[in-house]
Amino acid sequence: MSKQVILTGIRANNDLTIGNYFGAILPMIDMATTRAEEFQVNLFVPDLHSFTTPVDHSELQSAIWNNLRIFVASGLPIDQPDIHIYRQSYIPAHSEMTWILDCFTGFGQLERMTQFKDKAGQFDAVFQMNDIIANNYPNINTFDVKDVMKIFDELHKMEKENRDSATVGLFNYPVLMASDILLYNATYVPVGDDQTQHLEFTRDIAERLNSKFNQELFTVPKAVKEQHEFFGKDQGLRIKDLQDPTKKMSKSDETGKGVLFLNDNPDEAVKKIMSAETDSVGSVNLDWENQPGISNLLQILALLTRRDIQEVASEWQGNERYGDFKKAVADEMREFLTDLQSKLAAVNDEEIQQKLVSSEVAMTVQAGQTLLNVQKAVGLRA
Ligand code: TYM
Repeated sequence: MSKQVILTGIRANNDLTIGNYFGAILPMIDMATTRAEEFQVNLFVPDLHSFTTPVDHSELQSAIWNNLRIFVASGLPIDQPDIHIYRQSYIPAHSEMTWILDCFTGFGQLERMTQFKDKAGQFDAVFQMNDIIANNYPNINTFDVKDVMKIFDELHKMEKENRDSATVGLFNYPVLMASDILLYNATYVPVGDDQTQHLEFTRDIAERLNSKFNQELFTVPKAVKEQHEFFGKDQGLRIKDLQDPTKKMSKSDETGKGVLFLNDNPDEAVKKIMSAETDSVGSVNLDWENQPGISNLLQILALLTRRDIQEVASEWQGNERYGDFKKAVADEMREFLTDLQSKLAAVNDEEIQQKLVSSEVAMTVQAGQTLLNVQKAVGLRA
């Protein structure tokens, strides 16, 4: 019997962040180094996903290679036969499967995906309303109906502009992601918290097609809770932005001040941590609601030292010296980045190239088999 598959993909856009590392790369490396006997491990670059939002296309190749090198520098043992690295666009079955799955996906289902809503700029109406009021009616306490109508017109216009510039690729993104997972019959898919809705969508489409065609066309990936248990977590990981700890740390953040990139100069990273936003409570506590900045730093410290967050939190609990606490996090971060970057400098591109070629051949065969079964089920092949 073939091995169960653990699979994840990391988009190649700009530099990778510590969110990408702890949310997806590290769990994969852990599995690849400890359970390669039992599982097939696929760590791939979803290059077709990379330009669902605008990118500098002249930099895409170097971004793809940066990802591949980071996988290896992080410890992925690419000399193992059941560990694979590949580029999505080199395996045409991904695009073909996406078209077929598209035809079994409701428009409304994709429209409800939060990531699409965020990226297509369907903003929080109340927040925008406040802005419009502040800009246009600074002294007003009461509105007449005409003013209210104008505000709604303005909101409508902004929403339409955002929607018109969002691409069909962005809309369709979860279907391509479902193809990435289902083509290899993956059981476990380590992702950060922001991707769990896409994982649920993948399960849904797999179950629906299996039932519609009355056969096991796809392995249904495990439910999110079981995924967490498998990777030894109690919930999905969401590292927060250092400057605004109410939002996710994201590589698409424009200023990058609150984002720790894996390619950051370690001294820069230290500065970012030392100037991270905290609170006025005045003592360290793990309290996401009231102390999101401090809690985020506790989370980062726990991940860097590979300890349980509760354990780290109880060690610092009640400490009133935020500077000391930040310095402890910053020191660990400096050590982590220095180590990763020196390994990155020593990576052998030739070895990566060879592995890519052999993985891409092997994965074309695996993906082609799943695609063929689906083509038969829908009547495209006899
Ligand atoms: P991407 O490239 O945006 O992010 C890669 C992985 O990093 C995780 N992540 C985080 N985890 C915790 N805290 C954060 N602040 C943080 N930021 C990012 C993401 O959750 C993700 O796991 N659609 C995917 C790529 C993809 C994929 C797939 C993943 C394409 N096909 C198939 C799994 C399986 C994405 O855009 O991730």
